[in-house]
Amino acid sequence: MKRYGLILAAGKGTRMQTDLPKCAYPILRKPMIEYIVDHMDKSVIDEVVVVVGHKKEVLEEMLEGRVLFAEQIEQLGTGHAVQAAESILANKEGSTFIIPGDVPLVTDVLINKIFAAHDEMGNDLTVVSMMEDYPKGYGRIVRDEYGTITGIVEELDLMPHQKEIKEVNTGIYIVNNKILFDVLKQVKLNERKKEYYLTDIVELMHKNYKVNSFVARHPHETMGVNDLYGISVAEKYLRESINKKHMLSGVSIINPETVTIGQGVIIDKGVVIYPNTTITGNSYIMQNTTVGPNTEVHNSIIDENVHVKHSFIFNSKVGENTTVGPFAHIRENSSIGRNARIGNYVEIKNSRIGDDTKIAHLSYVGDSEVGKNVNFGAGSITVNYDGVLKHKTIIGDNVFIGCNVNLIAPISIGDNVFLAAGSTVTKDVPTGSMAIARNQQVTKEDYYKNLIKPKPRGIEERIANKEIKDGVVKK
Ligand code: UD1
Ligand code: CA
Repeated sequence: MKRYGLILAAGKGTRMQTDLPKCAYPILRKPMIEYIVDHMDKSVIDEVVVVVGHKKEVLEEMLEGRVLFAEQIEQLGTGHAVQAAESILANKEGSTFIIPGDVPLVTDVLINKIFAAHDEMGNDLTVVSMMEDYPKGYGRIVRDEYGTITGIVEELDLMPHQKEIKEVNTGIYIVNNKILFDVLKQVKLNERKKEYYLTDIVELMHKNYKVNSFVARHPHETMGVNDLYGISVAEKYLRESINKKHMLSGVSIINPETVTIGQGVIIDKGVVIYPNTTITGNSYIMQNTTVGPNTEVHNSIIDENVHVKHSFIFNSKVGENTTVGPFAHIRENSSIGRNARIGNYVEIKNSRIGDDTKIAHLSYVGDSEVGKNVNFGAGSITVNYDGVLKHKTIIGDNVFIGCNVNLIAPISIGDNVFLAAGSTVTKDVPTGSMAIARNQQVTKEDYYKNLIKPKPRGIEERIANKEIKDGVVKK
């Protein structure tokens, strides 16, 4: 008997008020639905089906090759959405774990527990509920006097006495495939909402089939995200649990409420992270490195013993013992060697920087290959853009670049070269040479005195000269 996962993600997410379809909206820079698919992959589920509809191409591109897609052309409710998967699932022996695509924090551990309970009790339908002090927005679980679950009532359809119910529907169920699609045919249109509610299967099944609930213990794992406030709540839970996991494995995080680490980021023990720091994507921070304060790292690998502060590092690599910042920006597929220094107000783009190279102040290095032990003087720039195309700069090893040098690309500088300060270098410089490309200095002696204009005379002198008499200017 196979286990299937079915994610409902065809809805628009009107309450989000964003252009992106809700389930594609990111939390810690990763789309909500990817959290669910990742955890399903790690769980006992064998195959995942996603119901898409509104802006389906966004989700299809995001999950291509990982899941099967079913299309719900018109969004007529959660029951109708499940029906869209009928042709894929109805003839498959097994059970299906159904989850709304806006319940992003469910874990593989929880999925496995729910399957274990479902199998152990021999259920046809397991409804996953949770206790909520503020149940607004969720369907409420209705039980009879024996405590048996008999139905789910949506917020809009609540009778006054049902408003007190604190047990809510997480939107997660495990159902026997064969029964599911038969029962769905009996679901009637909810007149008030003009939708077919998946929740109605509870009432339809509880008499003739084995229906039980599974109460999830950690409500944040099963919370639904309906609007941007919900995103922030989910983000907070996720941030706390990720930070805790890192701290318990030897990562020191100072002021952790201000530190955001994406799921999937790897951090070795001995790393120290200072406040206002965000590390996301496929990033790996190796031991004894310090990151922050006020730093963003995305999709980047930072080797051992690196110090990064007040800086941005995107899609790049930094070698061991290197220092970055304050106020450096390393981006787009750059790689910085070992024992290097990328200092104040330095931007590196799509470049390789060799070991022991220092670019300490106010430089831009783009589309460049820079060798080992190169020194960039303050304000030196690789001029990679001619207004139309980008060009490459190649710099050998042991090159000394004075302050304020412009390297007009395409250009190639050999090893052991000196470039004089203030030069605008337009031609290649061979190994071992020194290039100076600036106007000769002209010094004009005694120049200052020519600049001196006669001092304006004082008022007393003009009165003595009778130029001013009785307060009236005569000449
Ligand atoms: C749903 C449940 C509610 C539960 C809550 C848990 C129903 C009727 N209500 O309410 O009992 O407490 O989830 O979070 O099931 N979708 C489609 N096609 C549609 C409509 C929705 O694919 O035609 C998808 C949406 O993209 C979304 C998910 O189903 O990911 C849930 O839809 P949503 O409108 O958010 O349901 P809730 O009102 O939250
Ligand atoms: Ca929802």
